[in-house]
Amino acid sequence: MKFSRIIGTGGYLPEKVLTNRELESMIDTTEQWIMSRTGISERRIAADDEFTVDLAEHAARQAIDAAAINPREIDLIVLATTTADQVFPSTACLLQHRLGLEGCPAFDVQAVCAGFIFALGVADNFVRSGASRCALVVGAETFSRIIDWSDRRTCVLFGDGAGAVVLTADSQPGVLSTHLHSDGKYKDLLCVPVGISRNFSKVQAGAAYTTMQGGEVFRWAVTAMSDLIDEALTANRLHKEQLDWLIPHQANIRIIEAVGKRAGIPKHKVVVTVQQHGNTSAASVPLALDQAVRDGRVTAGQYVLLEGFGGGFTWGSALLKM
Ligand code: UT7
Repeated sequence: MKFSRIIGTGGYLPEKVLTNRELESMIDTTEQWIMSRTGISERRIAADDEFTVDLAEHAARQAIDAAAINPREIDLIVLATTTADQVFPSTACLLQHRLGLEGCPAFDVQAVCAGFIFALGVADNFVRSGASRCALVVGAETFSRIIDWSDRRTCVLFGDGAGAVVLTADSQPGVLSTHLHSDGKYKDLLCVPVGISRNFSKVQAGAAYTTMQGGEVFRWAVTAMSDLIDEALTANRLHKEQLDWLIPHQANIRIIEAVGKRAGIPKHKVVVTVQQHGNTSAASVPLALDQAVRDGRVTAGQYVLLEGFGGGFTWGSALLKM
């Protein structure tokens, strides 16, 4: 039996920090409201001349270094983003060129905040089928570019960043399971309602912004992410006590705490980065994984459950044996 296994992680956050105090001078909000309703104290914002591929490249190089591989061993690149540099080519192709690679398949996956989990699911299937031996999986976003900075209901929540992992084929797991779900009937609850084919004039006018029915999204995120935990544990015949770490999508501390409570996972087993990162969409889970690997919390042999939830709706999990 062939499995995929994560052998290196990387992360990158842009230099510019945007604090709640700074937001107080931009919109009608308070530091206290943002902190108490979301748990976010600051987020990072890409520089004007910094693009999604730049963030992705930093994270990818760090993951390649951590994996101690020659980049030429990479035979697949799957990149999750909602904020591609260009309409085409894909940001994965731009990243491939930056890394000096050629020939291997490189493509983007779009599942918004669940994007990294979807990308990991795709790459895991490539590796398990034998189509890839060494895959680079990235979640990278310049989400600040699709935010209306005068809309206090959304602009306080999001940030920019990138995370990456290197996956290789192994006889030992690795990725034990991935479970991916979507339901397009919720398309209007969290979206950027314009694009290339629809309302392009709004994009040209610089008005391609995220809109969200926060309360509905909140309730759905809690239900979906706690159900994902049961689904992954049941499929792998594991008890929740055996789980070493839960790494959920980082959207709001209240969502994370409600998921932990509903699923019966104690707080000390949940990795939280939302205070410093905000919601970095497809980058949130790999950034949190990288942080927990680098600070020594996640170690070899542990069971780690990654899970994401985003617009679409899309939601999914990946259970790992590190
Ligand atoms: O990746 C998935 C993407 N998104 C999410 O997961 C987000 C899910 N939703 C949430 O995290 C929460 O619903 C929010 C943080 C967006 C909002 O928190 P809430 O506790 O659901 O607040 P609310 O929307 O019920 O708003 C309460 C009040 C409203 O005022 P009124 O109508 O009661 O007078 C809002 O206008 O808070 C007001 N409000 C704000 N006040 C100060 C909304 N945003 C702000 C703000 N500062 N930034």
